[in-house]
Amino acid sequence: MEPQPVVRPLRLSDLPGLMDLVRAARWNQTQDDWRHILELEPEGAIGLEIGGRLACSATAICYGRDLAWIGMVLTLPEYRGRGFARRLMLAALDFIERRGVAWTKLDATDMGHHLYETLGFRDEQTVERWRREPFAGGEFVEAALGSELDAELDRAAFGADRSRLLDFFRRFEAASVAGGGFAMGRPGNAAAYFGPCVCRRPEVARVLLEWFLARHAQEPVYWDLLPANREAARMAEEYGFEKQRILARMARPSPGVSAPLEKHDALVFGLAGFEFG
Ligand SMILES: CC(C)(COP(=O)(O)OP(=O)(O)OC[C@H]1O[C@@H](n2cnc3c(N)ncnc32)[C@H](O)[C@@H]1OP(=O)(O)O)[C@@H](O)C(=O)NCCC(=O)NCCS
Repeated sequence: MEPQPVVRPLRLSDLPGLMDLVRAARWNQTQDDWRHILELEPEGAIGLEIGGRLACSATAICYGRDLAWIGMVLTLPEYRGRGFARRLMLAALDFIERRGVAWTKLDATDMGHHLYETLGFRDEQTVERWRREPFAGGEFVEAALGSELDAELDRAAFGADRSRLLDFFRRFEAASVAGGGFAMGRPGNAAAYFGPCVCRRPEVARVLLEWFLARHAQEPVYWDLLPANREAARMAEEYGFEKQRILARMARPSPGVSAPLEKHDALVFGLAGFEFG
């Protein structure tokens, strides 16, 4: 008899299975990213197990009561098309509504887009992944910078309080220009990751990008950005990045919610990740 699928919370002992899911999709997340998600929002990290094997994952992180972010929706290739991702999405949305969070967003791949649309998500804008090859030219100077986090600026840019998330990222790499903005970076499976980067002016983003490239020019680098911020896309080209993927940022209001979330794309020079916002 075919074993029955079981939906259950993810836990640290799932790390090997979670990394199998990441590798099967050729995504960039590391074990540390998963640990981080499990630490940040353990109840929102949901898995589907079948016959003792982890077949599907989904994560929901709540940024206060304004916004929740869904990510890591992954099904092992041999289990696709059996409704597993839909089951986990419904469980994640149930968790978000129980928490009383007004809006839910996610960055959808082409493969996930239809599923999210049927669950009430609508396109908001596009998001892009840019990649820079190692040694793509340029000499970068690592300026002496601070590492303060401007939580107010981040909130204005993103539309919700991500300070718990940012506190975690600071454990990797962070730099700031007083009164101007900040950037962070972390390792990835396939490439070093530049972001989040939130700045009042493009000149500040340029200083922070150079700080990061001075440290990582010899590795491939990923930079996810909002093309709505034209300065960010222009800078990516100038610094030798190439556009690699386009995803759809989608948003869904919880029942009874109509007021939009205010955000300022012109301040967003780098995303925290498709799985984080
Ligand atoms: C996207 C993904 C998670 C779907 O997982 P799944 O368990 O196969 O999804 P489900 O079986 O629950 O199917 C959900 C819906 O998506 C549709 N769907 C599934 N795969 C699809 C594909 N390749 N192209 C278009 N639609 C697809 C299904 O038809 C279903 O719609 P329906 O219920 O109206 O028939 C899986 O394909 C995957 O892991 N892809 C790689 C990683 C990825 O892109 N994740 C999405 C991140 S936003």
